[in-house]
Amino acid sequence: MEISIVILAAGAGTRMKSSRPKVMQPLAGRPLLQHVIDYSRHVGASDICVVYGHGGDEVRAELAAESLRWALQEEQLGTGHAVQQAMPDTPDAHRVLILFGDVPLLRPETLAALLDSCGPDEVGVLTVDLDNPFGYGRIIRKNGAVLRNVEERDATDEEKAIVEINTGVMCAPAKKLKEWLGRLKSDNSQGEYYLTDVLGMAVEDGTVVHGVKAQSQVEIMGINDRKQLAEAERALQRRLVDELMEQGVSFADPERVDIRGVLTCGQDVYIDANAIFEGAVSLGDNATIESNNLIRDSHIGAGTTIHSNCHIESSKTGSNCEIGPFSRLRPGAELANNVKVGNFVEIKKSTVADGSKVNHLTYVGDARIGSGVNIGAGTITCNYDGANKHLTIIGDNAFIGSGVELVAPVEIGAGATIGAGSTISKSAPAGALTLERAKQTTIPGWKAPRKKQ
Ligand code: UD1
Ligand code: CA
Repeated sequence: MEISIVILAAGAGTRMKSSRPKVMQPLAGRPLLQHVIDYSRHVGASDICVVYGHGGDEVRAELAAESLRWALQEEQLGTGHAVQQAMPDTPDAHRVLILFGDVPLLRPETLAALLDSCGPDEVGVLTVDLDNPFGYGRIIRKNGAVLRNVEERDATDEEKAIVEINTGVMCAPAKKLKEWLGRLKSDNSQGEYYLTDVLGMAVEDGTVVHGVKAQSQVEIMGINDRKQLAEAERALQRRLVDELMEQGVSFADPERVDIRGVLTCGQDVYIDANAIFEGAVSLGDNATIESNNLIRDSHIGAGTTIHSNCHIESSKTGSNCEIGPFSRLRPGAELANNVKVGNFVEIKKSTVADGSKVNHLTYVGDARIGSGVNIGAGTITCNYDGANKHLTIIGDNAFIGSGVELVAPVEIGAGATIGAGSTISKSAPAGALTLERAKQTTIPGWKAPRKKQ
C-alpha cells in the first residue's frame, strides 16, 4: 500500500523568540524541517506534503530544491485541522503517516517499526514513556490496547499520572482518516481541532489502534525553544560522533566536535578537540585533524595532517600533506601529495603539485605551481590589477626567494631561482637566477637627525 506523508509545520513557534519560522531554525547546520524531510525520505513514500502557515514563503523558498507538496493552513486551528489541509490531494487508497516539522531526531528504523506494527487498515501511534510527561497528551490503554489520547489540559489527575505519552506521530488509512477528521470538534479547553481525538474515534469505529513505543526520549524530542534546540544539537552531535567511532574514527573528546553536514572518514582518522566540519567533508585514511579547525566542503587526503587553527573551504589536499598551523585554504585550493603549507599562508584557486612547500606568510592566488617548488617567506602573487585576476605559473623545482612579488600574469620557468626581495613582472627563464633589486648603498658619515631644542 502506498504511503503519503504529512509533515505539520504551520505553527508560529513563539517561544523561539525569532524572526525566522521555528522549523527553519538550524540544527547541525540544516533547518529542523530539513531533518524531518530527510528521515521521511527513508520511508519510501510516494508523496510528502508539508502543511505550512507562519512564515510560509520563507519556508517554501528555502526548501525549493526538495520535491514536496505544500498545503497552506491559513489559520492555526489545531493539529487535526492542519492534517485536514493536506487531505484533498491525498488518495483514499494510501496510508497516511503524520510527522512534525519540529521533531528532528526520529530514526527511520522507528518509523519503519510503527508502519510495520499495524495492518494497512489499522491505526498506529508512536508513544514513549517520559520521566516527566507534563504538557504532553497521555495514552489511555485498556487491557493493553490503546483506547484514546487525552491532552494535559483536559486530563484528570489520575490520567496525568500516566507516563506513556503521545509523540504525535501516527499512521492511518487515508479514507478513514478523512472521515474522522471531518467529524472532529473543537469543544476542548483550547478550542482546537485535536488530531489526537482521531484515536478515540478509530476505537469507537472498531479500528485497532496500535501504540508503538519509541526506544529513546531523545528521538521524539520536539523543539519549542532555544534551550531545547541546543539540547537537540548536542544529542545529534553525539549520535554522529558515535557512528564515526563505530567506523574506526578516534576523537580526543566526543563532546567537543561539530559536524554540520556529512563527514566521511577513512580508517584511523584522528580528530582533536574543537574541530568543526561543515557541508560535505571527507577525510582519507590516517588523516589527523588537530585542534580548532574549520573545514567546509573539502577533501583531506590520506595521511595528511591539518595542524591547529586552519580555515579550509572548498579545497582538496592529496596524501601526506602538512597544513598549518594557521593556514587558510580558500575555494579552489588544490594540493597534490606531500605538499607543505605553513603558518599565515593563504591559498586561493590554485594548484600546487607534489612535494612543493609554501611555508610562511605567503599569498598564492590564481596560480599553477609545479612540483618540488619552494616558495620563501612573505611571497605574494599579485593576481589582481584592480579590475581583473591574472594567472601566475611556476615551473617544477623553481625556488622563489623570500619577500618576492610575482606580478601576474607572469611565468617562472622550471628550475628558476628568483632572488629574495624581487618584484617580478616579466616572465623569468627556466634554470636561471633572476632578481630585481635596487643597489644597496651606504652613506658614509651620515648623521642621525636630532630633536630640535
Ligand atoms: C501535540 C499533541 C500531543 C502530543 C504533542 C507531542 C495534539 C492535539 N496534541 O501537542 O498529544 O503529546 O503534540 O509533542 O495534537 N501545528 C500546525 N497547525 C496547527 C497546530 C499545530 O501545523 O493548527 C503544528 C505545530 O507547528 C507543531 C505541531 O503541529 O509542529 C504540534 O502542535 P502543538 O500545538 O505544539 O501541539 P502540542 O500542544 O505540543
Ligand atoms: Ca509541541
